[in-house]
Amino acid sequence: MFAYEHCAYTDGMSTIEPLLAGRRAVITGGARGLGYAMAKAIAASGASIALLDRLDTVESAAARLADETGADAIGVNVDVTDEASVESAFDAVTARFGTADILVNSAGMTLGAPAIDTEVADWNRLFEVNVAGTFLTSRTFARAFVAANAGLPGAERGVASIVNVSSMSAFAVNIPQTQAAYNTSKAAVSMLTSSLAIEWLPLGIRVNAIAPGYFASDMTRDFVAENPDMAEAWISKIPSGRMGQPDELGDLVVYLASERSAYVVGQSFRIDGGYTVV
Ligand SMILES: NC(=O)c1ccc[n+]([C@@H]2O[C@H](COP(=O)([O-])OP(=O)(O)OC[C@H]3O[C@@H](n4cnc5c(N)ncnc54)[C@H](O)[C@@H]3O)[C@@H](O)[C@H]2O)c1
Repeated sequence: MFAYEHCAYTDGMSTIEPLLAGRRAVITGGARGLGYAMAKAIAASGASIALLDRLDTVESAAARLADETGADAIGVNVDVTDEASVESAFDAVTARFGTADILVNSAGMTLGAPAIDTEVADWNRLFEVNVAGTFLTSRTFARAFVAANAGLPGAERGVASIVNVSSMSAFAVNIPQTQAAYNTSKAAVSMLTSSLAIEWLPLGIRVNAIAPGYFASDMTRDFVAENPDMAEAWISKIPSGRMGQPDELGDLVVYLASERSAYVVGQSFRIDGGYTVV
């Protein structure tokens, strides 16, 4: 068993750049949207990076990321709800870089439907992707990390960090759209984050989450295009007066992935322009 010294405060305020040099990161949902933006920040901080996504564009996204950041990057097709697919994707990552020590779970989907009209099959599919998918990739990552560190003396053991992507919808019912399934799934992601954080801290794996408000990603762009009055309704309720830009998540994800946040455990950080505090 690993020990709690992984939470030690080591570095004070000194600046050692790049923060993630030598680390090996996996980002699910990394082919586009917030996942790609966070991958870019992590790659720019020195980590090797694997984008995992079900989109066929995942390999070209990884090539673009390598061009933009100079990082060693690969793209791997995966369905985060399929155990065999997730295991084979992690095998591909290990073969290329060695065992991953950063995981960002950004793969997710939404379902905008009144609860009264929601079919159980649609509810279950959303939970499969947002909740079970996050669990499955986290478990696969943790098993590989623990196996790679087994038997090593304390000083040689690695540290690992998981950053889940929850939502402000875990904490507030954002209107006017109706999305009970999505809101509930993201509350589950935040509780999964806290639960795994406590269970896995002794293994050297810290788990936290980012809970974004409205960000201008590929997902929300499609939604706003289909519902043009929606952006106006959203923005009118955001104290900062605008939606977030995907690259505004970069510093937070790098911080949570790095040992600068060694004493931060099981938290879901809202980054929402103040939406949930009014
Ligand atoms: N955009 C926002 O305003 C916002 C706000 C709060 C939370 N989020 C969350 O952030 C995350 C990223 O959202 P986004 O806005 O970038 O959306 P997006 O649709 O642009 O990206 C999601 C990615 O996940 C991938 N994905 C979906 N299901 C998958 C599966 N089964 N296996 C593998 N990959 C799969 C998609 O292919 C896509 O590339 C999601 O979890 C979302 O719920 C987004």
